[in-house]
Amino acid sequence: MKTTRARQLYAALLAVSAAVSGAAVHAEERGYDVAAARQAWVLNCMGCHTGDAHAIAGKVPPLTGELGHFVRVPEGREFVMRVPGASNSSLSDAELANVLNWLIDTRNADTRPADFRPYTAQEVAAKRRPALTDVAKHRKALIESLRRNGDTAVADQY
Ligand code: HEC
Repeated sequence: MKTTRARQLYAALLAVSAAVSGAAVHAEERGYDVAAARQAWVLNCMGCHTGDAHAIAGKVPPLTGELGHFVRVPEGREFVMRVPGASNSSLSDAELANVLNWLIDTRNADTRPADFRPYTAQEVAAKRRPALTDVAKHRKALIESLRRNGDTAVADQY
């Protein structure tokens, strides 16, 4: 009886540690640090974007699903870094790249392109500024560009 219980516990522990190290390897390949990304999200983004990045109708866009479409075109990749909440955040270039890669991998895995290249600190440093002033205009142009590329998934309104 005792041994069965111990075996069960051991098997459960093995499963957990395999899952944890699997997730770490996966995240590393994708170019981000999960703990740092969660912290950056909580301190710099979540206050407006909600814990699970869903939309607040008419006010805050969802960051779930849409971003995977945006990063398919160069202007969309840039748009994501230049919206004021991202561009003007107190996050360093590396930290912003990290939280964006985490968002794309964990909340936009179904919609990002298969050949998505993770953001790098260098790319963010080169492109995050200046912050967009007319976000709505840029978003509209981006959505039109996606449509011309045959991607009609992102709605104009949120
Ligand atoms: C003060 C509130 C606020 C904070 C903080 C904030 N955002 Fe935003 N975010 C918004 C609003 C509002 C929009 C809609 C566009 C606009 O008005 O800037 C937006 C738009 C976006 C978009 C474009 C999505 C789309 O569909 O157009 C991205 C990407 C984004 N934010 C990422 C972030 C990230 C990453 C952080 C944290 C580093 C962050 N935001 C912090 C309020 C915020």
